Amino acid sequence: MSQGINVAILGATGAVGTELLELLESRKFPVASLKLLASQRSAGTTLPFKGENIPVEAVSEESFQGVDLVLASAGGSTSKAWAKTIVEAGAVMVDNSSAFRMDSQVPLVVPEINPEAAAGHQGIIANPNCTTILMGIAVYPLHRDRPIKRLVVSTYQSASGAGARAMEELKTQAKAILANETPTAEAFPYPLAFNLFPHNSPLNEQGYCEEEVKMIKETRKIFNAPQLQITATCVRVPVLRAHSEAVNLEFDEPFSPQQAKEILASAPGVKLVEDWQANYFPMPIDATGRDEVLVGRIRQDISHPCGLELWLCGDQIRKGAALNAVQIAELLVKENLFKRSVSAVFV
Ligand code: A2P
Repeated sequence: MSQGINVAILGATGAVGTELLELLESRKFPVASLKLLASQRSAGTTLPFKGENIPVEAVSEESFQGVDLVLASAGGSTSKAWAKTIVEAGAVMVDNSSAFRMDSQVPLVVPEINPEAAAGHQGIIANPNCTTILMGIAVYPLHRDRPIKRLVVSTYQSASGAGARAMEELKTQAKAILANETPTAEAFPYPLAFNLFPHNSPLNEQGYCEEEVKMIKETRKIFNAPQLQITATCVRVPVLRAHSEAVNLEFDEPFSPQQAKEILASAPGVKLVEDWQANYFPMPIDATGRDEVLVGRIRQDISHPCGLELWLCGDQIRKGAALNAVQIAELLVKENLFKRSVSAVFV
């Protein structure tokens, strides 16, 4: 592998795909060769990488021959459709979709939290859900110091979580409303501009949407804390990019805000953003394009002696998706984890 890694991006033309491309270049990932894969719709277009225009190809059975690493961000059904071909071709797939996240054979990795889990991969490593990654980065350093007993999170999720088309739709809707026209909605079920709605993923029999269930189950898996009590309410808000989350934590004993701040000030991937005098705290506009999760408004929960409140914002496309995937790829290079013996995932 010292010659570099043969990389393919599946979903290269999407919101996360283009960010993956930028990160491979800016983080100087050792790319030996690069294939950009998308649907037939994009075949023949090009995307820039290191000063060259690389052609986008329609994904096919032959796409993964000679490839070491596939960074996949083309949705769950596309990941499911190609995973077997990718693994059988001998490549490692870092999958940004939800297709394999809860598969017991598939590590679910946030490098700042559970890098050791990557070593057990059998060809696929899953990148967690965006809101889960952002929350994990802010909350795990506290959990490691003292186990969290109960976690209550409310999210304020931007359009970027639903892809490039949804971001464009939000802009078009805003223009329509400002022109006194009726906005139309296709990427989302309802107009998002000047509005908000509970996350539109499917609901289960308990009344939780899929996004909320992902936060609950994935956090337990990443933290290796199957008993952790978590509840979530996920809401889509008319922000273009970067998600926000209000988190309430309960511990077995009091956790002073000062101590929490000290831990978070030196936690990997976290930037403490608090100016109490100016009433300035993390905002999506400041988190956009940044690698760190911005955390602030850390305060005692006045309703519970062992409770702590915090607020966070993080770029959903970067740390919530593309950056985390590239960090996993960097971990594979660093730990020489491209070699593996068997794949039980498809057995
Ligand atoms: P394309 O641009 O050709 O449709 P986003 O999350 O921003 O909506 O991006 C989704 C990405 O997944 C795009 O690159 C899109 O390619 C790609 N994609 C969607 N469906 C398929 C498919 N069936 N096969 C391959 N790539 C797909």
